[in-house]
Amino acid sequence: MKSSPVPSTPNNHRVWAEPWKVKVVEPIRMTTPAERTQALSNAGYNTFLLRSADVYIDLLTDSGTSAMSDWQWAGMMLGDEAYAGSRNFFHLQEAIRQYYGYQYIVPTHQGRGAEHILAKLLIRSGDTVPGNMYFTTTRLHQELAGASFADVIVRAAHDPDSELPFKGNVDLAALEALIARVGARHIPYISLAATVNMAGGQPVSMANARAVHELARQHGIRVMLDATRAVENAYFIQQREAGYENRSVAQILKEFCSYTDGCTMSGKKDALVNIGGWLALNDSELYDEASNLVVVYEGLHTYGGMSGRDMEAMARGIAESVQDEHIRARVGQVEYLGRKLLEAGVPLVRPIGGHAVYLDARAFYPHLDQEQFPAQALAAYLYEDSGVRAMERGIVSAGRDSRTHRNHHPSLELVRLTIPRRVYTQAHMDVTAESVVDVYGQRAAARGLRMVYEPRYLRFFQARFERL
Ligand code: F0G
Repeated sequence: MKSSPVPSTPNNHRVWAEPWKVKVVEPIRMTTPAERTQALSNAGYNTFLLRSADVYIDLLTDSGTSAMSDWQWAGMMLGDEAYAGSRNFFHLQEAIRQYYGYQYIVPTHQGRGAEHILAKLLIRSGDTVPGNMYFTTTRLHQELAGASFADVIVRAAHDPDSELPFKGNVDLAALEALIARVGARHIPYISLAATVNMAGGQPVSMANARAVHELARQHGIRVMLDATRAVENAYFIQQREAGYENRSVAQILKEFCSYTDGCTMSGKKDALVNIGGWLALNDSELYDEASNLVVVYEGLHTYGGMSGRDMEAMARGIAESVQDEHIRARVGQVEYLGRKLLEAGVPLVRPIGGHAVYLDARAFYPHLDQEQFPAQALAAYLYEDSGVRAMERGIVSAGRDSRTHRNHHPSLELVRLTIPRRVYTQAHMDVTAESVVDVYGQRAAARGLRMVYEPRYLRFFQARFERL
């Protein structure tokens, strides 16, 4: 008998369902195969360059694509658009203090705005920033500020088939060896991400966060959290780590953040809004410097890059995001899609991640060399098949070494099916799974790509390709 993709109780009742109903709908359009072939060629085989009107089910990203609640939309009408001291800023600050536990908040237009400020604030030329796997914009801001990034994630994170429950963990021995080698003085902070996007949405355990904190404290090094999907991370701790099964996601989140000295945040993910982010700090002197820098690059320290209404929507989104039923349904939907694909024998990163299912493009196309961009090619075939838009997370995303200018060759060559929050139905997940299975069936005939245009920064966004 086949197991159901939805976990159920002993009475055969499903363990989660969405804790909301739909009030407004946005029509989407199915295109013809000929239209898609044309659109793909116009887009240079890069799903970032497709027009959204040509996309049927958009799984490019979970960033800024969430559906807001009626309570958030109501908050949008309460925007205080004063240049300085907007009341919505104080609501946002309150929400972050209450749920994340940090003292000082600098709003930014989105996550990379906060990364920019943090890197400028703390990094000196020649520094090394250790982290649990790179993220594209995070590493670039570290490099532009003069640092080099050192990956200290556990080895299992690079193996799509390893089933370890916390593949986002820091390898403490590797971190310790790095500190001994370069010296604590040259490590401005440890960049800890939870969950780890590029590893497949994999979580960090509470025990690991605590140990990183302890090691960093001994050496006088700060730990800065990338809190972009820390609520999803907290949910995995509740589900997988002994001692946390009876704690709420909100309690777990706050404990987790307590092991760090501040965070950068893309509010466009966990926090259920379409735009916004922040930098949070506990050190008041550092905050003074950050709030001074933000006026140069983003805006006054009480709005950063956001309008009052956006800050209100985010304050409310944060409160909604930590509700146990919300996060169970959110991660449950991702797991539903992943399990369906696993049942059909499709190779993907396990365990299934918090925000996305990551297809293993190397296993799809063992006949393609990594320099023929197998994941980029797979994302293109998937769009052609059904109008489902996914994102490459492999050699194109990894870019080039900042010193040697050679391509990085990440061991993970993935296509990310990213699920927006509160947007698509189970039927949409079924359509997606059917298309992935079809594309998998046609894998032997797949051809690779050649890059014909490569932009200087974050090339995956704008690179263009031709089919070989
Ligand atoms: N950190 C992580 C882990 C992210 O996933 C992102 C964005 C950022 C930082 C930067 O935040 O986009 O608000 O400037 N990730 C998006 C994605 C783009 O599709 O994964 P941002």
